[in-house]
Amino acid sequence: MNDEMHKRRAAELQELRESMKGVAHVIAVASGKGGVGKSTIAVNLALALNKLGAKAGLLDADAYGPSAPQLLGIQQTPQVTEEKKMMPLEKHGIKIMSLGFLVQQDEAVIWRGPMVHSLITQFLRDVAWGELDYLVVDLPPGTGDAQLTLTQSIPLAGAVVITTPQVVARNIAGKVISLFRKMNVPVLGVVENMSYFVCDQCGKEHDIFDRGGGESMATRLGVPFLGAIPLDPAMRKGDDAGEPIVVTLPDSRVAQEFVKVAQKLKEQLSSTKPADSESGAE
Ligand SMILES: Nc1ncnc2c1ncn2[C@@H]1O[C@H](COP(=O)(O)OP(=O)(O)OP(=O)(O)O)[C@@H](O)[C@H]1O
Ligand SMILES: [Mg+2]
Repeated sequence: MNDEMHKRRAAELQELRESMKGVAHVIAVASGKGGVGKSTIAVNLALALNKLGAKAGLLDADAYGPSAPQLLGIQQTPQVTEEKKMMPLEKHGIKIMSLGFLVQQDEAVIWRGPMVHSLITQFLRDVAWGELDYLVVDLPPGTGDAQLTLTQSIPLAGAVVITTPQVVARNIAGKVISLFRKMNVPVLGVVENMSYFVCDQCGKEHDIFDRGGGESMATRLGVPFLGAIPLDPAMRKGDDAGEPIVVTLPDSRVAQEFVKVAQKLKEQLSSTKPADSESGAE
């Protein structure tokens, strides 16, 4: 980078952090493989944190497949304030921003790295997040431009890594954990999704994949295990209908597991302020 570019980036970072100063903890939800349930977990986690009395927000940072509008059943164009900031939408008590609110549902965009960088920067700098205890960020799979921009722009409270129990998924999740560590982003823990299936007829728990794989990986890598979310058709149906399970079926096992994960995160983060954490942000 030349001097001019350095100056511009430094000014951009300052503006961005000023804009995010009301947000106490930014939690990134990441995975190695796609389709393991990151978006579903990010949405329900933000709602579970809200249920525990915290002010929570959700930033859908997946430019390639924004899912927050679908999962929460909301689709409106955000209002813009006099200061030219976008107001996040609100549903079930949480604040939400997604690229899905800004483009047509079926619009095809070819996203190049620098575009992803400026989108994430705008979501942090130009959205009026206000005061939040937690901002949960739903990332695309892997460790690409979105992850890099996020980790290099603001101090993150840490990352929650989602995996399914099978070897293929957890091997890649392990790599993501190593990468976050290299970027000095604290790994808050692992969540094993689609851990087991509870038969709705007999109540027996069936281990469809390799239940416990996520926990053993977490132990091996020395990171906390935050919880196991069962495979439940009600969750998939809720996602398809825009009705998150934590809100619609609060007594279900899945919803209760989400609250437990949220509780563990809250406890873990209550002892650290973002300024204390060793984030990769320069
Ligand atoms: N525990 C679960 N039980 C049943 N269905 C689930 C569960 N978790 C996720 N699903 C379903 O699996 C599909 C993929 O979930 P989701 O979109 O949250 O994954 P993702 O990791 O965000 O995917 P991507 O990598 O494409 O962003 C969705 O149809 C969702 O409803
Ligand atoms: Mg997703």
